[in-house]
Amino acid sequence: MSTLTEQERLQGVALVDIGGSTTSIAVYQEGTVAHTGCLQMAGQQLTQDLAQMLRCPWESAEALKCEHGRAYADDALNSETVEIEAFGTQARKSVSLRNVCEILQARAEEILEAIEIEIKRAGYLDTIAAGLVLTGGTSQLKGLPEVVEARLGIPARLGEPRGYSGLSDIIGSPAYATPIGLVEYALRGQDRPVTAGPSIHFEMPAGGLWKRLASIGRALMPE
Ligand SMILES: Nc1ncnc2c1ncn2[C@@H]1O[C@H](COP(=O)(O)OP(=O)(O)O)[C@@H](O)[C@H]1O
Ligand SMILES: [Mg+2]
Repeated sequence: MSTLTEQERLQGVALVDIGGSTTSIAVYQEGTVAHTGCLQMAGQQLTQDLAQMLRCPWESAEALKCEHGRAYADDALNSETVEIEAFGTQARKSVSLRNVCEILQARAEEILEAIEIEIKRAGYLDTIAAGLVLTGGTSQLKGLPEVVEARLGIPARLGEPRGYSGLSDIIGSPAYATPIGLVEYALRGQDRPVTAGPSIHFEMPAGGLWKRLASIGRALMPE
């Protein structure tokens, strides 16, 4: 795959494509795919959480996520606010960027933990020396590799297709990394198919996350 280096594939790595509604995982060991899995959790849930918690239209939540969202909240955001389109009597309202990022962090960590569980269940968590390479639209959420390193304790970087100069403005984006890899694979045609390992569909119980979101929700309520 164009997104990974030879070194990463040889030493063990998980290519994680976090898209809109699904996250797909391909674990490489000794140069080839050893396992693939798919989770029904991805970027749409981040948008859904924002829309629900901030009581705003879905489109407004999506724009907020992509333009101002970060995968972790820190004190530097305390005084920052963003104007968004809202429901109700006022067409627009101001929200705290700190709160926005807390909501995103809670769900991002939930997704990352599900990825960790899936790789661990398959038996590869300790053998992916190169950690995670993140692709797909949701990998563009700012700070996501840092949250992987902090929460899961394994290296992470954004995957960008290599060696496709000329279209770099479009193709250089991680959102395109997996399609490019598949095209490259189809064109070469001699590799083994990427379905070498068992593929599972897996959903996390949402209990812990809902508790966390509920406590952020209480903090967002007017005093
Ligand atoms: N800058 C960004 N920050 C956070 N999420 C983003 C950003 N850009 C795109 N996304 C999210 O990426 C997801 C779509 O990813 P994509 O790989 O195109 O989807 P899929 O391959 O599943 O169709 C959407 O949930 C979208 O909100
Ligand atoms: Mg995608």
